Amino acid sequence: MSTSKKIGIVTGGGDCPGLNAVIRAVAKAATMRGWETLGILGGYDGLLEPRQFRVLDYRALDGLLTRGGSILGTANRGQFSAKTGHGESRRLPKELLDRTKAGMDALGLSALAVIGGDGTLSIAQQMDEHGIEIVGVPKTIDNDLEGTLLTFGFDSAVACATDALDRLHTTAESHNRVMVLEVMGRYAGWIALYSGIAGGADAILIPEVPFSYDRVCAKIAEREAKGKRFTIVVVAEGARERDGGFVTTGPAEANREAHLGGIGAVVAAELARRSGKEARCCVLGHLQRGGTPTNFDRVLCSMFGSYAVELIATGRLGQMVAYSGRQIGAVPLAEAVGRLKTVDLDGSMAQTARALGISLGD
Ligand code: F6P
Repeated sequence: MSTSKKIGIVTGGGDCPGLNAVIRAVAKAATMRGWETLGILGGYDGLLEPRQFRVLDYRALDGLLTRGGSILGTANRGQFSAKTGHGESRRLPKELLDRTKAGMDALGLSALAVIGGDGTLSIAQQMDEHGIEIVGVPKTIDNDLEGTLLTFGFDSAVACATDALDRLHTTAESHNRVMVLEVMGRYAGWIALYSGIAGGADAILIPEVPFSYDRVCAKIAEREAKGKRFTIVVVAEGARERDGGFVTTGPAEANREAHLGGIGAVVAAELARRSGKEARCCVLGHLQRGGTPTNFDRVLCSMFGSYAVELIATGRLGQMVAYSGRQIGAVPLAEAVGRLKTVDLDGSMAQTARALGISLGD
C-alpha cells in the first residue's frame, strides 16, 4: 500500500563529500514510492519566507552520486545555528519553530529528511519535539556523532589526508625533514588516527591524548638512531599540549564554536627548536571537505538516504539513520546529539597505533 507524500530535504552545517549522494538516494527512494521531493535551499532558512526550494524530480538527480558539495547549499551560521561551544547547543525560540512548521505546511510537506552533523541534528531533535515530522542523516567528516559507527564524508576526508601523507613522505625523505600534517576533526581525533595509520605516520597527536613535546622528540630521536632521517607527524586541529589550551584562529564569534586551527605550525616550530631538525607544516584544511566521495561513502550515502525514506514510510520519526558495522538501522535523534563520539583509547584504532610503535605523544 502506498500513501502519496511530499517530503523536503534539508542540508545543514558544513559541507562534506557525499551530501549530493544522500540527496539523490532520498529523492530516488521517494520517487520509487510515488512520492514528491523538494530540496530546501540554504539550510532550514529555505523553509521560511521567502521560501526557497527546488523540485527534485528524476532528471534533477543526474550526476549527483559523484558531485561534491551540496546542490541545495548549506549554512552553519544564522538563526538556525545551534552550536555555541564545545558540545553545547542552544534552544530555538518557539516562534521560529512555529514559522518552520508553517513553512512546511505552505509547501505541502509532510516530513523532512535532514542531513547534518551535531548542530543541525540537535535542531532536528527540537523540531521533532515541536511536532514536526523529521528524520536525520548523520553527516560530518569529523565522525564525532554518537549513535553511529560512521558518518558519511569521513572516509572521503581520510582518503584525502592519506593521499597527502603519501606525498609528504617522499618530500620528507628527500630532505631529511620532520613533516607535520594538520588535519580537521574538531574535538575528535578520528581523521588523524585513521589517516595516520593508513599513511604510515610516526606520531599522531589527537585531542583525546594531550601530548608532550619530549615524547614526540623521543620518537624522532629513536628514528634517527635507526638511520631514519625523516619523521611524519599528523596533528588533529583539536590536539593540545599537556596542560595547554586549544589553538584557534581567533576569538569565537557570538553563538558559534571557536574556530580551531594553527596547532600544526606551533608543533612544527617547537619540534624544530627542540630536535635541531628542519620541520615544515602542511595544513590540509577544506581540501578534506571538497570533491567526490569515495566508493565507500557513495555506498554509505545510498544506504543512509534510502533508509531515511524507509523511516518516514514506516512512521519512525525523530530518528537518525545509523551504521552499526553490520547494517543500517536507526537511533533516536536525542541519543545522537549533544555529546561527542571521541576516540576510545582502549579501542582497536588507538591500540593498533600503539602496537605499531606510533607515538601518540604521551
Ligand atoms: O565539522 C567539520 C569541520 O570541517 C571541522 O573539522 C572544522 O573544525 C570545521 O568544520 C571548519 O569549519 P568552517 O568551514 O566554518 O571553517
